[in-house]
Amino acid sequence: MDQTKLASVARQLVTPGKGILAADESTGTIGKRFAKINVESTEENRRAYRELLFTTPGVGDYISGVILYDETIRQRAHDGHTFVTVLEKQGIIPGIKVDLGTEPMIDSPFELITKGFEGLEERLRQYFEFGARFAKWRAVITIGESIPTDACISENAQRLAQYAKLCQEVGIVPIVEPEVLMDGAHTIDRCYEVTVKVLEIVFKALRETGVFLPGMLLKPNMVIAGSEAEKNTSDEIARLTLQCLRQTVPKEVPGIVFLSGGQSEIEAAVNLQAMNVAKGDAPWNLSFSYGRALQASALKVWGGKEENSVVAQDEFLKRATMNGLATLGQYTGE
Ligand code: 13P
Repeated sequence: MDQTKLASVARQLVTPGKGILAADESTGTIGKRFAKINVESTEENRRAYRELLFTTPGVGDYISGVILYDETIRQRAHDGHTFVTVLEKQGIIPGIKVDLGTEPMIDSPFELITKGFEGLEERLRQYFEFGARFAKWRAVITIGESIPTDACISENAQRLAQYAKLCQEVGIVPIVEPEVLMDGAHTIDRCYEVTVKVLEIVFKALRETGVFLPGMLLKPNMVIAGSEAEKNTSDEIARLTLQCLRQTVPKEVPGIVFLSGGQSEIEAAVNLQAMNVAKGDAPWNLSFSYGRALQASALKVWGGKEENSVVAQDEFLKRATMNGLATLGQYTGE
């Protein structure tokens, strides 16, 4: 493991002014997004949509890395260049989702455990050959009556740590993503309590497994009320999120890249801005690794039609710009 290289890639991914685009929707998930805009989920439509995003002129000024999916990392733009090359030409680091989704936990069927160790080392080596320099593994924690259980948090944390260790052994920066879901009517305080616990257990597992903290990034949820509960102000979200991170995230971790998790495009930018304004002397860069909060408008405007590609690119560039400004605490609204 070349620690200097890992640390350098991790730092580049959280360059102030930039963040990550999560374009790693599985075939099932992108199918659901396409269904909402009445677009058939064919391999060609998925390719064309991703080409539109990755070839957006100037987007490399605000996007440091793009997370790809197994199908996507093998695809090419219409000019014959691989997507990896297209991204590299934009100055963007290619990354790859490597977990293989979730399955219900045997003893607690309303909770999910992430799977993906099948052939993982080999896949990581192949993705590295393709050009991927960072990876993502997403664990999902659900809030409900008497869940999450300690067993679910521990098992997911162990797996995140093992995945992260393996990534670093092959020279890939792991993004460690324990997502506490927004689904439900829980309060922001309940989200705080669960997120603190999850992050404590995740970092304990990372340390015990010997993961090199300067060569990884954390991708957490913000501390936020459930989607069916009353919304909090961005100041309250920023205050509790920072309090939670200060309690749990070691200073050696170079950056924290939030997921958007169902927040609207504007909410995600406003909350990231509030966080960067309030962060004070916090040791990590605070940035984004958004999927929906970067793509929702672009996807809608595109609607599966080639002739809408340029306006869709404008929408994507706008979201990337706004969130890039938010990482600097300079987002002042639309
Ligand atoms: P959202 O920002 O849409 O939550 O997606 C980010 C992601 O990669 C979730 O795993």
